[in-house]
Amino acid sequence: MSTSHHPPDPEELRALAVHVAAEAGELAAEGQRGVTVLDTKSSPTDVVTKMDRAAEELIRTRLLQARPDDAILGEEGGGESGTSGVRWIVDPIDGTVNYLYGSPDWAVAVAAEVDGRVVAAAVNVPSRGEMFEAVLGGGARLDGVVLRAPDAVPLDRALVATGFGYFPERRAQQARVLLEVLPRVRDIRRRGSAAVDLTGLATGRCDAYYERGLHPWDWAAPGLVASEAGVRVGGAGGGPPSGDLVIAARPELYEALDRLLAPLGADTDG
Ligand code: IPD
Ligand code: CA
Repeated sequence: MSTSHHPPDPEELRALAVHVAAEAGELAAEGQRGVTVLDTKSSPTDVVTKMDRAAEELIRTRLLQARPDDAILGEEGGGESGTSGVRWIVDPIDGTVNYLYGSPDWAVAVAAEVDGRVVAAAVNVPSRGEMFEAVLGGGARLDGVVLRAPDAVPLDRALVATGFGYFPERRAQQARVLLEVLPRVRDIRRRGSAAVDLTGLATGRCDAYYERGLHPWDWAAPGLVASEAGVRVGGAGGGPPSGDLVIAARPELYEALDRLLAPLGADTDG
């Protein structure tokens, strides 16, 4: 891998993202059996295992070996600055609760951002043997095959994925929103990994996704995979995805879901 300071080549960043997501996924998969809670973070239900930390450590080491001047933001290790203009955004295990319970829906997500835009991404779902990858403007692939999200369905026939935060007050508000959404859609899925939900839009495993209270590492890599597959990925008030709101769906369905969610308002910060 290059350590140059030329304008970074998104294809090179994608290849590095895939490389490190593959290695970290292998490490995490080997460590899943018998894993226990090491610590809690924002609330008692927001857990971390030793494998979250080990996988992130491995990713940071590999990225900085290849590109020592890059910045990194990781869920477990926080931010580290750099000088190259590239910032990596890393979720070493997205779906830690699934991981802890021996469930398959968890992912390693690695994104490269240049000038504030995610330009390359890899999402590894080791238990399904799936590697998603994307380059801004260059399309998304699953195991090398180009992804195109299926056409939108009407809201009342949409399978809608969502997730819940770790604070009780936020969850209570999310439950109130769900009361309005559930009767108006085909059904709801709560898989427990934003990365699995967002990449699932690209493959047609669900039709739409929304969640409030996410962090950049939850949506950076899988959001690029989804958008490069033709999914609109946005946030509150027509803006980009944010901690306030992430909505994702094919454009016509996106608009219908946005109209439904907008009057229901932002939830309580925890
Ligand atoms: C969580 C998952 C979950 C979502 C939560 C996230 P983590 O990430 O993506 O699906 O509902 O909001 O925090 O904690 O497992 O990395
Ligand atoms: Ca996460």
